[in-house]
Amino acid sequence: MTTLVKGIHHITLCPGGAQEDVDFFTQVMAQRLCKQTVLMDGSIPIYHLYYGNADADVGSITTTFPYARKPGRSGSGQLSATTYTVPHGTTRFWADHFTSHGVEHSGIQERFGRKYVRVRHPAGLLFEVMEEPADTRNPWTTTRVSRDVGTRGFFGAVLSVRDVRDQEQFFIEALGFTKVGVDGPYHRFQAGDGIGGIIDLHHEPDRAPGSWGFGAGTAHHIALNLETDEALTQQKAKYEEIGFTDTSEIKDRFYFHSMYTRSPGGILVECTSNVPGGFYQDEAPEALGTTLLLPPWYEEQRAAIVARLEPITVPEQNRARGAAAKPAAPAQPAAAQPAVPLSRYKAKFDADTQAT
Ligand SMILES: [Fe+2]
Repeated sequence: MTTLVKGIHHITLCPGGAQEDVDFFTQVMAQRLCKQTVLMDGSIPIYHLYYGNADADVGSITTTFPYARKPGRSGSGQLSATTYTVPHGTTRFWADHFTSHGVEHSGIQERFGRKYVRVRHPAGLLFEVMEEPADTRNPWTTTRVSRDVGTRGFFGAVLSVRDVRDQEQFFIEALGFTKVGVDGPYHRFQAGDGIGGIIDLHHEPDRAPGSWGFGAGTAHHIALNLETDEALTQQKAKYEEIGFTDTSEIKDRFYFHSMYTRSPGGILVECTSNVPGGFYQDEAPEALGTTLLLPPWYEEQRAAIVARLEPITVPEQNRARGAAAKPAAPAQPAAAQPAVPLSRYKAKFDADTQAT
């Protein structure tokens, strides 16, 4: 069956400090910092950092808003773990790797018959490395994480809900997911037929709800890949047909287009379409993530924006070093793009706001 949702596009989280976030992702998780930009809503400059695999593939990208200005409250109604694939037999390596970095981890666990290790970011956010032998995507490597063990991209995500029923109905009816199994408190759903489309609903009936806004230590949303503007438009109509009339307008995020809906369990769900060039439209493949980039409509405010941001440095061994060229991120043919009205927010960054 053809479904609009092809898998996960990206996952967006709020850590605290920017430098500790860069260090965790690039050193502990061995991710490539593949884009530095800023939050495109509001009047306070906040970094928007993108981390992914060697090719910055859609479906490997975790984005963060370092939000030290305000703590969040983790709980139910939130994405509770971001899960990457790693090759078969490598969870022992990852457990030892996490120990060597002095970060808290679960040791080797099993869910739905697969081995994984769960690890905690300094801000409290949780990540998993899950064994998936069939993933052929291109891992980023570091001096301590080689190609034979590196993360390939997303396996999926874990979402905490107090009640599974309405959230299950939302994923199946509104988004076309298939329920593929239950393992204890985990209910598994899959989008598409490839790797990178797993949602595990974690049934936690007694867990207090987490906060919804931006706040350090919490996940903000999960984004699903619908690939084209036409599919986004169809999805918007589908949402409205079944009663989710609070779906947002379609927003221009420069690297993709976005539409947001608050799901019944509380988790914010974004649907995205890709644009020609994707993450490669404003940087050479080997230079992804090496400088702070702003969408054209923010450039005139660059000095005010930079002055308000915490300086960050990518560790030398984690910088780009002649990564293989990639022609372009998945893009929709120009002829297939309908004239979708796009919303674009243009903030004024005041000089008297506090750095975060
Ligand atoms: Fe997003």
